[in-house]
Amino acid sequence: MQIGIPREHSPGETRVALTPESCGRLIKAGVTVLVERGAGLASGFADSSYEKVGATLTDAAGAFAADLVAKVQKPTAAEAGRMRSGSHLVSLLQPASSAPEIAALDAQGVTALALELIPRITRAQSMDVLSSQATVSGYKAVLLGAAAMPKFLPMLSTAAGTIPPSKVCVLGAGVAGLQAIATARRLGGLVSGFDIRPAAAEQIRSLGATVVAQDLIAADAQTAGGYATEQSAERQAAIQDALKAHLATMDLVITTAQIPGRAAPRLITTETVRTMAPGAVIVDLAAETGGNCEVTKAGESVDVNGVTVIGPVNLPASMPNHASAMFSRNVLTFVQHLLTKEGTLNVDPADEITGAMIVTKVPAAATA
Ligand code: NAI
Repeated sequence: MQIGIPREHSPGETRVALTPESCGRLIKAGVTVLVERGAGLASGFADSSYEKVGATLTDAAGAFAADLVAKVQKPTAAEAGRMRSGSHLVSLLQPASSAPEIAALDAQGVTALALELIPRITRAQSMDVLSSQATVSGYKAVLLGAAAMPKFLPMLSTAAGTIPPSKVCVLGAGVAGLQAIATARRLGGLVSGFDIRPAAAEQIRSLGATVVAQDLIAADAQTAGGYATEQSAERQAAIQDALKAHLATMDLVITTAQIPGRAAPRLITTETVRTMAPGAVIVDLAAETGGNCEVTKAGESVDVNGVTVIGPVNLPASMPNHASAMFSRNVLTFVQHLLTKEGTLNVDPADEITGAMIVTKVPAAATA
């Protein structure tokens, strides 16, 4: 069985799907790993470190011709065209918005497995790239915000006087939000948080933050899968109103609220931004899905009366070494799940994890 690791070419993408450490483990299990030269360079993994664990360096054609190709971003049409009929792809695929790319993979005879569709069950936690990469985003959002602030985050008692701690509010307390809370606390901020799901309130408190707008937490706001449900326009307006006075006193606001497959819920209006003090910073992690803040522009930093609103895109790629290390561990665990004792590939559509991830129509079967 061969696994190919091509170099990523999407604009701004710096991660690699498998690090040398993970490759070494697969090689020990009898897998042949074909790495495109330079695939790990942007994330700090030299070609020589892949060679050291027994991987074979090759060109793009060699990596894409493998039995299974592992990528970070979905392949372009040209890249898909290099894959063999009967081969497999494991990658982020943005399945909700990638119908043409998935059709191209289908036409090519490739079985594509979307990493976004790994079920959020305990058994698959170690394969969950959405969680690992959200951890990176939550951490980095606080650092971006702190760097843009004209203030310290922690309280400081110095000979030059006492500096009070900055006030931080995190909206949306899923994986990214909880990591943002933990990071802002470690940096000494006075942290509060809000999420619509009842289970999140306890998690916010367990990290030492306070919960705001508690009366707007809704018992019916969580699906069986643990995700938030879309709120009615009236409830959404009530959330915006309830948060307004609290946000007006904040130095840093990190927003992370998402509804899978929908536009991000609007939590901060332009009017609320105008009530915030000059120097305050908002980092909107939902920028790519429309933004939690009305003034957010994806990939830009906007100034509204001295309030900076940052709309970062692909934050994990800004910390490619550890983001790749975590992504790679997830992919490794998933590939190990696909491997039989004999070292062949078993892509079983009836399996709870594998079956949920197949997005192409090609009948999946062990091929290598
Ligand atoms: P996400 O990225 O879909 O959304 C982020 C947060 O925004 C969520 O906590 C959501 O409740 C919140 N949100 C949505 N609408 C909101 C609104 N109007 N106001 C305030 N907050 C709002 O969420 P993520 O991080 O992917 O986690 C979703 C769920 O999946 C959580 O319950 C988490 O515990 C669970 N999970 C389970 C895993 C497993 O068992 N393998 C792994 C990771 C997450």
